[in-house]
Amino acid sequence: MHMNNRSIFSTALLIFTFGISLAQNRVVINADLGRDTISRHIYGHFSEHLGRCIYGGFYVGENNTKIPHQKGVRKDVLTALKELKVPNLRWPGGCFADTYHWKDGIGPKADRATIVNTWWGGVTEDNSFGTNEFLDMCEMLEAEPYLSANVGSGTVQEMAEWIQYVNHDGVSPMADLRRENGREKPWSVKYWGVGNEAWGCGGNMTPEYYSDIYRQYVTFMADWTKSRGMYRIASGASSDDYNWTEVLMKNIPLKMLEGVALHHYSVIDWSAKGPATAFSEKQYFEIMDRALEMEELVTRHTNIMDKYDPHKRVDLVVDEWGGWYDVEPGTNPGFLYQQNTMRDAMLAGTTLNIFNNHCDRVKMANLAQAINVLQAVILTDEEKMILTPTYHVMKMYNVHHDALMLPVSLETDDYRFGDNNLPALSVSASSDNMGVMHISLVNIDAHQSKTVSVDIRGHNINRETGQILKSDKLQDHNTFENPDLINPQDFKGFKMMENVLAVTLPPFSVVVLECN
Ligand code: AHR
Repeated sequence: MHMNNRSIFSTALLIFTFGISLAQNRVVINADLGRDTISRHIYGHFSEHLGRCIYGGFYVGENNTKIPHQKGVRKDVLTALKELKVPNLRWPGGCFADTYHWKDGIGPKADRATIVNTWWGGVTEDNSFGTNEFLDMCEMLEAEPYLSANVGSGTVQEMAEWIQYVNHDGVSPMADLRRENGREKPWSVKYWGVGNEAWGCGGNMTPEYYSDIYRQYVTFMADWTKSRGMYRIASGASSDDYNWTEVLMKNIPLKMLEGVALHHYSVIDWSAKGPATAFSEKQYFEIMDRALEMEELVTRHTNIMDKYDPHKRVDLVVDEWGGWYDVEPGTNPGFLYQQNTMRDAMLAGTTLNIFNNHCDRVKMANLAQAINVLQAVILTDEEKMILTPTYHVMKMYNVHHDALMLPVSLETDDYRFGDNNLPALSVSASSDNMGVMHISLVNIDAHQSKTVSVDIRGHNINRETGQILKSDKLQDHNTFENPDLINPQDFKGFKMMENVLAVTLPPFSVVVLECN
């Protein structure tokens, strides 16, 4: 890579002054070449009727006297999620969405039909958390709701009536029903998923068949959102099923589509996922390998979309991503309850950097899932609540919400394990509407700290501060007994010389720098 005189001078000075070896690791940030905005919706979350995500996680019921709540929604959870600035929340699934009949979840609670959650644990739910409860909760969180409509076992009419119930302002059967249920004004829901995993739990369809079904459903999706516009998301591919994206993009007219989904879970092997906490370094390496695949997935799905949509009208929506391990010993296997360690912080930090860097096409993403399920940001146990390492990464990164993405180039050492290697470092950068620059760096190496020179071009820096998330062991995690073992701390491991920062990242750490 070419280095200009100033860079050579300051790099040499850093090496001389601080004895720093900058041999392999180098970031160049082109602060004057920003073009695309990092949509805050990349930082979205997902809340399925699965295990203790909704019941016990978000919602404890209006009559609960033990756990403080607002209309049945846990106050501790509301406070924590508001600090994250959750931009959108997907609901009610997941696989559950294609079994869900929204009319069973409205009106007086005593009259609501029950539902057996066939996908997740076979438990019977009382439908006490339904459309009104979810949409009111999104208002409390100041998050955009993202509703997943039932295509697999529902009907076009059922979905059209749901839209009328939540969005129609005038006189109509469903708007009147909403008023009877105590809500005068519509919620104006913009984000709608047309089915979920249509290739699997959503109906085992072929992409050709689903494309036709999608066209049929969206034909009856009335837009009462006024100037906001409906945002319709087609059920997307699983990981590297590029044919799925190809067929959808070919068969669905662009004017019928705002987003195409993609689901990618970092899992070692679906029949041997490995433990969430007592994992080996080999298992860590394998999970990071799967997580970093996101770069290739996003690039290749984007290339296919570019072919049919060169002007990028349609977004790539990664509405399920995260790590998937064995459930915690002794818990219901259908509830997908897993702990969350520094490994998950590495997974979150690198994945969010990938999304930031691809923000011209990736406009929305949803971590799976928000509470008590898979790579959760929050875990609860009755009245207790803890924040996970993933929560802290999401919070450290929220400085990137709606900021201008600054193009970066990266030269990095490898993280080696046996005969295999992965790039040790990951980076993204942005400039917010006050002109403040943020740089997020991750070192996934399990053993070695990494010093990296960050050459900032086109922006003069006067003052830098930083935060770091690190711990002694990769397996470290917060528990109900020790909830603050992993917490962001002030970071001082950098020196600035002539607009080049030398940053030393400890093993398996996430750093966010703020440069004024
Ligand atoms: O997030 C858990 C499940 O994973 C979702 O219900 C489904 O969409 C995916 O397979």
